Formats: sequence, structure tokens, C-alpha cells
Amino acid sequence: MKMIRAMVRPEKAEDVADGLEVAGYYALTKMNVVGRGKQKGIIVGNLHYDEIPKVMFMMVVEDETVDEVIKIVNEKAFTGNFGDGKIFISPVEKAVTIRTNQVGL
Ligand SMILES: Nc1ncnc2c1ncn2[C@@H]1O[C@H](COP(=O)(O)OP(=O)(O)OP(=O)(O)O)[C@@H](O)[C@H]1O
Ligand SMILES: [Mg+2]
Repeated sequence: MKMIRAMVRPEKAEDVADGLEVAGYYALTKMNVVGRGKQKGIIVGNLHYDEIPKVMFMMVVEDETVDEVIKIVNEKAFTGNFGDGKIFISPVEKAVTIRTNQVGL
């Protein structure tokens, strides 16, 4: 299993969630976050904003579906401008369903 954390533009979050659902990926956690990337935020006039709002999707998926999920997020969140977002992938050791005590997704 892998954990996917994807930071996307808030205005793209619904498209991302819809695209995932259409492809059969329902389970996810969403969070409103702030952060900054390589450009250290944005400068508008003489104001420097270094906390840019994003929506973070957190999903744990089977290894063989990671590439498809990345592709969907990429396509749905893309504008071509700085700040489109970032996707991080990391390994997950174990998942447990509390209701059934079942191990795995
Ligand atoms: N290295 C990082 N570690 C943790 N969070 C990050 C990192 N890089 C970006 N983020 C998060 O992702 C959000 C979006 O980043 P952003 O799209 O600006 O990435 P970027 O690498 O600067 O790409 P771009 O050049 O397209 O702007 C940031 O606001 C921040 O929340
Ligand atoms: Mg950036």
C-alpha cells in the first residue's frame, strides 16, 4: 500500500474528487492546508504571501493503482501555472478497519 498526499488548488479540488470517484476511488481524506513551494509564496504588488491555501488529498491505495491515481490528480488539477500543486507518495505498512478489525484496505 502507498499513501498519496496531493496538494491542489482549492478551486480544482472538486474536479479532482469527481475524477477519482468516476474511476472508482471513493475513499479519501481531504484537508484545507496552507503552504508554499519553490517560489516561496507569491508577491502581489508589494505584499508577500507565503501561506498559500491548498486542499490536501490523502489517500491510501494499493501499489498497482498509484500511477492511475497520480494521473487523475494531475489531469484534474492542472492549469499549467506555478502553484498547480504537488504529489507525494510514501509507503504504508498497515491499515486496519476498526469495525471488522480486518487488516488491509
Ligand atoms: N517540498 C515540499 N514539501 C512539503 N510541501 C510542499 C513542498 N513543495 C510544495 N509543497 C506544498 O505544495 C503546495 C503547492 O506547491 P507548488 O505547486 O507551488 O509546488 P512547486 O514545486 O513550487 O511547483 P511550481 O513550480 O509549479 O509552483 C505548496 O503550497 C505546499 O503546501
Ligand atoms: Mg510553486
